[in-house]
Amino acid sequence: MSFEAIKHIEARSQVETYAKMAIAVERGRGAWVWASDGEKYLDLYGGHAVCATGHSHPHVTKAINEQAQKILFYSNLVYSEIRGRAAEKLTSVAPGGLTKAFFCNSGTEANENAMRMARLVTGRKKIVSFSGGFHGRTADSISATFLGKYRELGEPNVPDHVEAVFGDISDAKSKIDRATAGVILEPIQSMAGVVEAEPEYFIELRKICDRVGAILIFDEVQTGVGRTGNWFFGGSELSGNVVPDIITLAKSLGSGVPVGACLVNEKISSNIRINDLGTTFGGGMLAMAAVLATLEAIEQDRMIENARAIETHLRTELETSPVVNAIRGKGCLLGIEFNTACKPYYERLLENRIITGTSSDPRVLRILAPLCTAKEEVELFAEVLNG
Ligand SMILES: Cc1ncc(COP(=O)(O)O)c(C=O)c1O
Repeated sequence: MSFEAIKHIEARSQVETYAKMAIAVERGRGAWVWASDGEKYLDLYGGHAVCATGHSHPHVTKAINEQAQKILFYSNLVYSEIRGRAAEKLTSVAPGGLTKAFFCNSGTEANENAMRMARLVTGRKKIVSFSGGFHGRTADSISATFLGKYRELGEPNVPDHVEAVFGDISDAKSKIDRATAGVILEPIQSMAGVVEAEPEYFIELRKICDRVGAILIFDEVQTGVGRTGNWFFGGSELSGNVVPDIITLAKSLGSGVPVGACLVNEKISSNIRINDLGTTFGGGMLAMAAVLATLEAIEQDRMIENARAIETHLRTELETSPVVNAIRGKGCLLGIEFNTACKPYYERLLENRIITGTSSDPRVLRILAPLCTAKEEVELFAEVLNG
């Protein structure tokens, strides 16, 4: 089918919710996707930060194929070997203390459940979140999202959400108190333009939460599963080795098969009773096969080390660029801040068949590349920007 025909049937029969690129993607492999007209694109946006293992990684597709032949789905009402193995693998790479997983289907759902757990465990209601953070589009998550117009879209918002300034520890101190059930944050604020905080900030947040008995939640929907060059931001040197009570995950976790998860410590898991949480699809066999194979592929192909190498290489390649102000972020979650709007660069890259992403900061272009991206592929990107 031609691009125009594909565009036409989508526009005719689907609610339009995204400003799309003028390409129809047909297939992918590694850091590359092929469009309906046969053209090949370098995907440094990683299918919207999802395809950490690259597009259609052979180990992942094989596991999904094999699982599909056996059984696609049964819910949490039965035991399942593949679910057990996926949970075991995920908790084995999680920071120490995060011993149990709760599976769901998306990032927003993981955050909803994390906030519910914080309220259940503390018996309190208040949630503190941060300016510039994005946590999803369902009621509680959008109410915790103090970024642009998102929160307004979720009106009437869930009560008892309070905003604190990201990176400002004295503001956090004044907002997090003994009425606070949970504190949720994106440890690197991706959509805001890849905004970071120092490890000391996370150390102080941990102390405040401990002092008042609030649950600390890292939304690692973007930073998790190897993206920053660490399995997780929590527990790594990036957070000053701070381990939150809950880490939420989605995006990369299933290499594109929809799946979300909350990784929790004993304090949380021992207070959750049967029927406190639930989901039909969460923990389904197909998704669990994707999770297990994703984690195995990252390990086998040494993708976490590669994410670090990609960051170093990209920083070196753009070091002398007169148009780049700063490069923020870690591993394969990078924000390139230009000294003018990034849109013309985004467009020039797309004309050269390289897909990147914008952010809510008009000057910041986002790179959310697959963790398997090669140095030569980074050079193709740099050539266009430096050319
Ligand atoms: C940090 C973060 N949290 C939560 C979400 C929501 O995830 P989902 O779209 O899977 O609901 C996103 C999505 O972009 C995100 O970037």
